[in-house]
Amino acid sequence: MDIKTVGVIGAGTMGNGIAHVMVKAGYNVVLVEAAQAALDRGVQTIGKNLEREVSKNKISAGDRDAALARIEPVLQRSAVAKCDFVIEAAFEKFEVKQEIFADLDKYCRPEVVLASNTSSISITKIAALTRRPDKVIGMHFFNPVPVMKLVEVIRGLATSDETFAVTRDLAVKLDKTPVEVNDAPGFVSNRVLMPLINEAIYAVMEGVATPEAVDEVFKLGMAHPMGPLTLADFIGLDVCLDIMRVLLAGLGDPKYRPCPLLIKMVDAGWLGRKSGRGFYKY
Ligand code: 3HC
Repeated sequence: MDIKTVGVIGAGTMGNGIAHVMVKAGYNVVLVEAAQAALDRGVQTIGKNLEREVSKNKISAGDRDAALARIEPVLQRSAVAKCDFVIEAAFEKFEVKQEIFADLDKYCRPEVVLASNTSSISITKIAALTRRPDKVIGMHFFNPVPVMKLVEVIRGLATSDETFAVTRDLAVKLDKTPVEVNDAPGFVSNRVLMPLINEAIYAVMEGVATPEAVDEVFKLGMAHPMGPLTLADFIGLDVCLDIMRVLLAGLGDPKYRPCPLLIKMVDAGWLGRKSGRGFYKY
């Protein structure tokens, strides 16, 4: 199928990043949010990040304007009826996805692929909410989406080869590198990354080292662009905790137990960069 218009559900960090790379690659985007303020913030962020690329001479001012003109910001989910592919990037709660996928299944043409940018929730379970489980797939982008090359493409139990091919080709057209993985808690990225972050938090909790020292070890010793605690603040400590809980529930091994300090910080509202405080102050 020829994809011209893509629906993006959610204009938060991941949603606006996904919409950004879609319009930059020439797709029209129907960007859906529940509240006007969040929608405005998402569109503003795309404008700011495109401007960053103009100032670095990666794109022209004309390219930026054309990309922004391809965004149709809407509050009604039913606007996805005109879309040829839809990707959901809403909150990481199954109940939220449940409601969204029921609507997408209702409004979208039967041949349209419904993708989720979930970072850890089962694609098989999301697919089972629809009458088109063969057309449901995971398309997991990485933050900051305009910069990171990877897209994890996750096959649910029922995902068809055709759905996989459509999604993989779309990722390539966005100038990303798709990597195929099967449906399992945390997929590959978060199954490996989150226990690393969780263990780094244990090291801080047990007084092995300060957050700064832990981060220096990974930046200088392992050439990570950000240490694990800076990265945790960047991702959001609430998101890290949610993913650890999905790993523990899904894999049943106590090695995935969330660090008590992580739980305490989330309880305190110290969610990282977005709340102004996490392992560091912003
Ligand atoms: N939009 C567009 N461009 C952006 C951007 C954005 N939001 N953020 C950064 N950039 C660009 C900058 O303009 C700059 O471009 P240039 O190379 O042409 O100058 C380049 O990215 C590097 O940015 P900076 O110079 O400002 O800063 P850094 O060199 O410190 O890089 C970083 C910032 C790219 C965020 C880097 O620190 C990094 O790679 N960090 C690790 C990020 C990571 O691991 N992400 C994955 C998180 S896990 C995840 O998302 C999965 C989820 O399920 C939890």
